[in-house]
Amino acid sequence: MSVAAWTERYGNAVMDTFGLPQRVLVRGEGAYVWDADGKRYLDLLAGIAVNSLGHAHPTLTAAISAQLGTLGHVSNFFGTPTQIGLAETLLRLAEAPAGSRVFFTNSGTEAIEAAFKMTRRVAATGGGTRTRVLALEGAFHGRSMGALALTHKAAYREPFEPLPGGVEHLPFGDTAALEAAFSAQSVAERGEVAALVVEPLQGEAGVRPLPPGYLALARRLTTEAGALLVLDEIQTGVGRTGSWFAYQQPEVGGGIVPDVVTLAKGLGGGFPIGAVIAYGEGTATLLGRGQHGTTFGGNPVAAAAALATLGVIERDGLLRNVREVGALLRQEIEMCGSRLVEEVRGRGLLLAVRLTRPVAAQVAAAALDAGFIVNAVAPDAIRLAPPLILTADQARDAARFFAGVAVPAEVVQQPAAAPAALSTKEYP
Ligand SMILES: Cc1ncc(COP(=O)(O)O)c(C=O)c1O
Repeated sequence: MSVAAWTERYGNAVMDTFGLPQRVLVRGEGAYVWDADGKRYLDLLAGIAVNSLGHAHPTLTAAISAQLGTLGHVSNFFGTPTQIGLAETLLRLAEAPAGSRVFFTNSGTEAIEAAFKMTRRVAATGGGTRTRVLALEGAFHGRSMGALALTHKAAYREPFEPLPGGVEHLPFGDTAALEAAFSAQSVAERGEVAALVVEPLQGEAGVRPLPPGYLALARRLTTEAGALLVLDEIQTGVGRTGSWFAYQQPEVGGGIVPDVVTLAKGLGGGFPIGAVIAYGEGTATLLGRGQHGTTFGGNPVAAAAALATLGVIERDGLLRNVREVGALLRQEIEMCGSRLVEEVRGRGLLLAVRLTRPVAAQVAAAALDAGFIVNAVAPDAIRLAPPLILTADQARDAARFFAGVAVPAEVVQQPAAAPAALSTKEYP
């Protein structure tokens, strides 16, 4: 059946929250996928930073099949070796101190919900509760009600209000605003801060890095206030930026140790799983017995998928590949000579190509026609989040697309428009 026929069936059967699919895909291998018409695409998005090992990776496929054929699901009344092994592995990769623990979920938004509930358990110094939770403008933390309260975009939030209260959004990357939120005056007026929730690089806002020193300041202020520093690494974690977690890079985290890290997306290599890492015993015991739960979280098949994904990243030196191929991809696109390319920002294999004009949607459509899957993450920015196995040759292929060979003339000839909506230069 053709892409067109499948698309019609999709429209008649699937709820219209995403719009019609750009293509209907039927198989994948490595960094490539094929649609129902047999056309091949280089997948430079990896299911939005999910398919860490690409498609149909034999080790991942074998691990999932073996676990499903051995023990597919148990409730959380029981433990399994894969679940326990995965928790231990994550604590090791996080270099988490003694007493640290992991909670498993099925998605990013659920990891955020668990972290949000933890913030409600942070005791106030003078008794009572602390409900102030700080997040940043531009933040995306998910679509369930608690995560939505932390997410900034009005169009996502407003149709669903009232949302859980206490969340304040601070201007992105603004250190003075951050200090003011913790000031004696703010505390006197609005109460103590329970937590600051922040993405080391804002993914959905167009791959925007925080200014150097921001996380170190955030760490100092949260520690002094007795508040949690929650890092949302759902998009940036699991090797995507060239280290296990983005904050582990000195230029990003400045050597900090967070209180909570949320993960999902790339963790299962395409199999749904999320996790919350709580650093240190005090944080790891904020949610007591019976205070949180999930039927599927920690499922042995999902845990086996994550263990296999992490294992292949380690075995095949993919962190290094991310750094090297990411640098090459960035350099090749920056030097491709296209008048459309303003700059490339981001880290490792989480990059945004900022365009000189707000024509990202047209560029993404042209890319698809030319056999490349990319994402118009902002009107003037194309997000690239390819599998961590991307090769240098594939990176060069992607850059050749940006060089203009595959961009239709009408896209290039669009009249110049207002300044780009998401320039890093607009932010402090
Ligand atoms: C930083 C961040 N947090 C949370 C989420 C929500 O994750 P999920 O879509 O798995 O619920 C996303 C998804 O894009 C994300 O990028």
